[in-house]
Amino acid sequence: MKKILAVGVFAGLGLLVACQPTAQQAGKAEKAEAPKAEKMEAKKEKKKLSKTEKFKIALANQDKWQKACSNPMQLVPQGIDIETFKKEMLATVKFPPGGPVGKDVKRGEKLFGDPKKGGRSRRGNCYACHCGDPNIIACGNIGPSLRGYAKRGIDPKDTYIRIYNSWAINPCSTMPRLGYHGVLTPEEIADIVAYMHDPNSPLNR
Ligand code: HEC
Repeated sequence: MKKILAVGVFAGLGLLVACQPTAQQAGKAEKAEAPKAEKMEAKKEKKKLSKTEKFKIALANQDKWQKACSNPMQLVPQGIDIETFKKEMLATVKFPPGGPVGKDVKRGEKLFGDPKKGGRSRRGNCYACHCGDPNIIACGNIGPSLRGYAKRGIDPKDTYIRIYNSWAINPCSTMPRLGYHGVLTPEEIADIVAYMHDPNSPLNR
């Protein structure tokens, strides 16, 4: 039985090889006529597919809390114990060796939103959702204003936790979990905290 199968496969291969030259020639003629736009379209199709694949992988890799928060209301669904949720999220927070308050206030400011670039920053980008430095007028209102933040008497450690993993404080918040997802390093977050709690930073003046 195996032998018969093998012979069949070989015969099939032989046929394929034998047919190839003509098939190739036909292909060449077609290729010459194929308009560029069509080729571009095919390329785009490939790119699109890989993006879909990436999205599928990201979906499959969602942790249980991300799954719970992925609902149209973006609220914690009923039946989920919020205290357990917060505890598990808090356990993911890693502090840098120097503690939650860094030393480089200027770097913190740049990560929060560079005043020289109208408040933009590639990774922190806090002005997308928050207002802060009164000189930066293009600021978002998805999150509360952070103007005068240091005067509220919030523990800098809590500010650090909020930026590292906002879900440790407010489950399912739309505030990105910048440390948890590795967008910012612990040291970078500590510098943002230093900027936010410095009484002389424009945020607090
Ligand atoms: C995509 C929008 C978004 C971005 C970007 C964002 N946040 Fe938030 N942030 C929010 C929302 C929404 C809240 C309110 C809900 C909550 O408490 O989680 C919030 C809350 C906060 C709070 C608590 C405010 C208060 O009044 O207690 C702090 C502090 C904060 N964000 C800091 C930051 C910093 C620092 C950055 C940049 C590194 C940042 N956020 C980036 C959306 C965002």
